[in-house]
Amino acid sequence: MRTLPVRLDRDHPDPLGVQLSTQVRDLVLAGTLEPGDRLPSTRALAADLGVARSVTEQAYDQLLAEGWVTAQRGAGTFVASGGGPRTVTGGGRPRPTAEPELIGLDLGSPWIDPRHAAGWRRAWREVSAASAPRGYPDPRGIPALRSAIADRLARTRGLAVDPDEVLLTSGTTDGLRQLLPHLPAGAVGVDDPGYRAAYETVRAAGRDVVDLTPGEPIRMDRLGAAYVTPAHQHPLGHVMPAPDRLALLEAARARGAVVVEDDYDSEFRYDVAPIPALAALERSHVAYLGTASKSVGPGLRIGWMVPPPGLLAPLVALREQTYDMPSWPTQHALLTLLREGWVDKVVRTARRVYADRAPRVAETLAPHGTPASPAAGMYSTWLMPPAAVHKAREAARVAGFDVAPLASYCRSARISGLVVGFGGVTDAELDRALAAIRRGLEG
Ligand SMILES: Cc1ncc(COP(=O)(O)O)c(C=O)c1O
Repeated sequence: MRTLPVRLDRDHPDPLGVQLSTQVRDLVLAGTLEPGDRLPSTRALAADLGVARSVTEQAYDQLLAEGWVTAQRGAGTFVASGGGPRTVTGGGRPRPTAEPELIGLDLGSPWIDPRHAAGWRRAWREVSAASAPRGYPDPRGIPALRSAIADRLARTRGLAVDPDEVLLTSGTTDGLRQLLPHLPAGAVGVDDPGYRAAYETVRAAGRDVVDLTPGEPIRMDRLGAAYVTPAHQHPLGHVMPAPDRLALLEAARARGAVVVEDDYDSEFRYDVAPIPALAALERSHVAYLGTASKSVGPGLRIGWMVPPPGLLAPLVALREQTYDMPSWPTQHALLTLLREGWVDKVVRTARRVYADRAPRVAETLAPHGTPASPAAGMYSTWLMPPAAVHKAREAARVAGFDVAPLASYCRSARISGLVVGFGGVTDAELDRALAAIRRGLEG
């Protein structure tokens, strides 16, 4: 075996060697590694994982001591016959025998370059040194943060707004959830295929959903609102063409409906300049949703919305009662990261990384499918027959990766394909996953 489907996390509290021995143990228990299987050499595995050799040596020593592997001088390290002890002795609980966790090639995870870790830590040190507000904070969000976001929207999205029109949220779906009670009555149009979290949020609010076909003009006559991703249709990747934008805005105006614009990853284009926001054309019937999930990380749970001016007062009035907003330390950290230029730096680095990775994905998939649209951001979507999708996914799974079928974004639409996210993995992981997918598709 040349490599192992394991993933080490430098931010995990367990040392790297312990993480590695635990994951190898789990691979044996799950049957992925079988008695007699040869493990990669400590040198090769260390190079593959990008860690010091002492890490792999320490893990192998531990597995040897526990009887999971045997070492044969000159021949290598092998999984012990009998698969090692099946339960942990000494009063411990039996170890779970579930499949080892797969590394997701999901479309939502961004690349946050580890070289930017110092700036991140500095921001949190600044938060811990600051004194927290004594009472409830401004229900719209920290004023300085709203100003910084308004500046950024003007600079990067062509959207001129007053800081008092910006409301901090705990991310896109939180913004949508808060908007829904204030949107005009009627069903909500959601793309199919489309963003599952948006669909579920609309349904959870008790609204009917009308499936919209991406690329077709949106008819607003039965709708109180339409949720769209005009800069980068999720998950097919189209840009909503200018005539369709104008027609949508006109239809929303005529009907008194609201277009909810999810502007989730527009800063990450490398083929063309970022596509301006729909809300930059017209504010009165557009609720704009932005997120830090792609530029800072989805774990932070922070985003912002710019509601249509007519919805601002009721949204703020409700927040004055509920304080339904991200926590003060999270807001403060984002403010520091924005002020220091950290977010711009992360976006620039990530854009370069995605621009390099997208063609590698295309090289693997182009002989077997058609891109749904030009690659942008941290994923690309490939149309291909169900049999090819199955082969690619299965080969990826065996190598330790999970790649989503396009079908998992469809409700009534029947489109077959593969959605390959390339943001949340290392270069080495992406290469391993693509090699496996290539083998699967060619096999
Ligand atoms: C279409 C779309 N919108 C928004 C988001 C981000 O959501 P949130 O801000 O809730 O993390 C994602 C993340 O994958 C997404 O794919």
